[in-house]
Amino acid sequence: MKKQFITALLLLVCSVKSFADEGMWLPQLLQTLNEKEMKKMGMKIKASDIYNINKSSLKDAIVSLGGFCTAEVISNEGLILTNHHCGFDAIQNHSSIEHNYIQNGFWAYNKNEELQNPGLFVSFIVSIEDVSSSILKNINSKLSEKERQTTIDQNIATLKSSYKKNSYQDVIIRPFFDGNAYYLFVTETYKDVRLVGAPPASIGNFGKDTDNWMWPRHTGDFSMFRIYADKDNHPAAYSPNNIPYTPKRALNISLKGMKAGDFTMVFGFPGKTNEYLSAYAIQQIKDIYDPAKINIRHDILELMKRFMVKDEAIKIKYAAKYASIENAYKKWQGEVLGLQKSNAIQKKKDRETIFLQRVNANPAWKESYGQLLPQLEAAYELNKAYALQRDYYNEIIPRIELFNIAATTANIIAENEKKDAAANIDRNKKNLDRLEDIFKEYDPELDRQLFIKLMSRYVNDQNAAAVSPMLSNALINHSIEDLANEMYTASVLTVYDNIKNMMTMSANEFKTRITSDTLFQLYVDISKTYSQQVAPFYNKNQNEINQLQRSYVKAQMEVFKEQKFYPDANSTLRLTYGNVMGYQPRDGMKYDYYTYMDGIMEKYKPGDYEFDVPQKLIDLYQAKDFGPYGVNGKQPVCFIAANHTTGGNSGSPALDAYGNLVGLNFDRVWEGTMSDINYDATICRNIMVDIRYVLFIIDKFAGAKNLIAEMKIIK
Ligand code: ARG
Ligand code: GLU
Repeated sequence: MKKQFITALLLLVCSVKSFADEGMWLPQLLQTLNEKEMKKMGMKIKASDIYNINKSSLKDAIVSLGGFCTAEVISNEGLILTNHHCGFDAIQNHSSIEHNYIQNGFWAYNKNEELQNPGLFVSFIVSIEDVSSSILKNINSKLSEKERQTTIDQNIATLKSSYKKNSYQDVIIRPFFDGNAYYLFVTETYKDVRLVGAPPASIGNFGKDTDNWMWPRHTGDFSMFRIYADKDNHPAAYSPNNIPYTPKRALNISLKGMKAGDFTMVFGFPGKTNEYLSAYAIQQIKDIYDPAKINIRHDILELMKRFMVKDEAIKIKYAAKYASIENAYKKWQGEVLGLQKSNAIQKKKDRETIFLQRVNANPAWKESYGQLLPQLEAAYELNKAYALQRDYYNEIIPRIELFNIAATTANIIAENEKKDAAANIDRNKKNLDRLEDIFKEYDPELDRQLFIKLMSRYVNDQNAAAVSPMLSNALINHSIEDLANEMYTASVLTVYDNIKNMMTMSANEFKTRITSDTLFQLYVDISKTYSQQVAPFYNKNQNEINQLQRSYVKAQMEVFKEQKFYPDANSTLRLTYGNVMGYQPRDGMKYDYYTYMDGIMEKYKPGDYEFDVPQKLIDLYQAKDFGPYGVNGKQPVCFIAANHTTGGNSGSPALDAYGNLVGLNFDRVWEGTMSDINYDATICRNIMVDIRYVLFIIDKFAGAKNLIAEMKIIK
């Protein structure tokens, strides 16, 4: 009896998470949930200095950049700072052979030189409000998932239409805790955002794929933009008459640097996490889905690399694609290893044991939650084959450019069949632009070989029902190689001008030509097979899982009352906090928490694609010309801390105990990428570039003193 009690107690201690560093917290709840702990950990300001709707606070300096990254205001003239990889698309769009801003960097030495970026926007959060009771009105457990969603959508529409806001503001309502709560955000979105500065990629993406997700790191991953507003400081479409935005708040910058144990916060827009899954769900990710996706991407990357090392033009064409495929490929490998090493599944199982003990001891809980875990397991098990087929489809089909080309021509056919001719012309111009973009980054021979490799997997790894019948039939008396050769040789889709010229044909003729193309037919058959044999079953099962998971999250919040809960990331504004510290990736290995420019020179490989260093940077290093940004003859570059971050937190400010800007978040360490599923404070670290390195590059390397002069720097 006693032994049992002790085991239960031990289990409880281990499984009720108490790590202070874990969590992506809602800024308006910091005062209630976190302030005390944050102060204990070293914070010197108040929660109301971070989020306040009655006066300016730190949150007024934080923006979502384009919905995929974070940026922060660092001057009273609307200057914002984000990562190089967040601004990369804009940098790439302005680059040409004559103005290669990727290679040489870009600096606006006055505001007239700043470059506009159609489509890029930043959103400020004005206020956040709990609207759960209005949105979940008339919701009960008897509703089907579909009825429930319809009611919620109606409630959202009603609240949105009656909500008081200014004309230049938007209202967004989002589910939290898997749909157990809803929050409303008033936002202001500025659409005139101009490029101000970016270092050369040899600084902004130093170390490229080899160093990606890795510590020790030496990347100056930053770029700068400026927000422009109309004469009333309100959002406006691009206009040469717009003026630099005057922020409610700009961050102060501290040159003091960080030491081990110092308190830090990261304030931004994390994209997606899954912290409340069952052990069974994690097991599937670790054993089935991650490995499948890793294997497919391994094939793709290997093939692309083979072409890229031989041919400079292909290297340029495929660089961005390669980097993005590689990014998740590497992350998933770290995730699988991290889940293994941190014993994530056993930890969840232990937690489930306690969950069940508590649930069974309480008749009401037993009634509502007693069967949740086995039901979840059954639902996941039922969905296993479909979820895997979905991963195969999503990982394979969009990687074959001829399928993307076929999909775009299918859009053109669909456009042509719509009534409004004028609008069709407009939308077909978009389709043609899309085709042009695809062809710019396309090599027919590489694509053909990718087709052979990936279609072999598509056919051989999946059960017959998920495979396109047209393809299976063709393979009865053809090898996949012969089939690929025939189709790529005969297809009209392999050359941009073919399609462009066909656009002058009548709609009917265009349709006849395209639909008689075998590659086009194959694309149609593959997507039809997916939407008939996989998607409906997957969606049905996933609905069931969502419903059960929503109950499971609710149950966990009731049953583990002693635990503080934070909602999973969903691209809304969050604050995470933790202390600066190194970590031990493996037995006998210990990582320090800071890197310096000496490490850049250690990694330096002249002429290398990843590790070359600009001569000017070498000169500054050798002269130790670090200005006010160096310490004791060394220039700090990056540092790590135990802040709980994820994709979307790129570009987020790293703040010190006083809320001053000390760094810029841009990555996590490889061993800790499982933090999206199972945060573990012993090994999960976020990587930040030291603000002193950023300023050193702007000031000493680029000589953009005009930008330094705008900032408020605390020495
Ligand atoms: N791993 C970081 C993130 O998830 C940085 C990616 C950009 N850098 C790169 N070498 N691909 O976005
Ligand atoms: N590089 C990531 C991003 O673009 C941040 C790294 C992470 O996933 O934590 O948001």
